[in-house]
Amino acid sequence: MSALIEKLNWRYATKKMDPSKVVPEDKVERIVEAARLAPTSSGLQPFEVIVVTNPDVRARIQEIAWNQAQVTEGSHLLVFAAWDNYTADRINDMFDLVNEERGFTNEGWENYRQMLLNSYPARDEQVNFEHAARQAYIGFGMSVAAAAFEGVDATPMEGFDPAKLDEILGLREKGLRSVTILPLGYRADDGDWLVNLKKVRRPKDQFVSLVA
Ligand SMILES: Cc1cc2nc3c(=O)[nH]c(=O)nc-3n(C[C@H](O)[C@H](O)[C@H](O)COP(=O)(O)O)c2cc1C
Repeated sequence: MSALIEKLNWRYATKKMDPSKVVPEDKVERIVEAARLAPTSSGLQPFEVIVVTNPDVRARIQEIAWNQAQVTEGSHLLVFAAWDNYTADRINDMFDLVNEERGFTNEGWENYRQMLLNSYPARDEQVNFEHAARQAYIGFGMSVAAAAFEGVDATPMEGFDPAKLDEILGLREKGLRSVTILPLGYRADDGDWLVNLKKVRRPKDQFVSLVA
């Protein structure tokens, strides 16, 4: 079994974390970096990650997250927040950054920029947010895998009230809306009903098919 698959079998949506254990900062950095390196549609990277360690803020978040204890039992809480809309400025900033970093402009790339500028900003804001949120999920998945790779426990969560979380973190003022959260920590020695249960997935023949 490859090292990554082995780690993905090891990981589970941790239900009880040990509040005395702290995830080292270098591991947190790599878990966030995996999200930053995620592929996104047109490379727009339309989401951000907020790392919350403040215990009071996490206690307030727990209240609006079905009271899920991992939010405060873990040492870090990652919040994946997507752009609330695609604007011309946001699209231009990303295309300009690519040109700046690569040191050249390219006609095909500039035509592609114009195509996005002519279509995305005019679309319904909610459609744009949902598109951006799908990109945030890609980063979220990468962080889930990276946490496993680092031997860090994590609980992928969408069991929270996004509007209330946006309010707690002041996200709407920054043009962001929360999509998912990911507490990071270490599984508790006991008290987790899920830890010893078999990981269940549909069999491969019901999941993958081949067109050869
Ligand atoms: C988008 C998403 C949202 C989830 N929300 C929650 C949640 O709010 N609370 C929770 O305990 N688990 C949550 N889960 C965990 C899933 O229930 C879990 O990943 C699934 O049952 C498979 O089990 P495993 O991750 O332990 O292999 C979520 C998972 C995903 C991917």
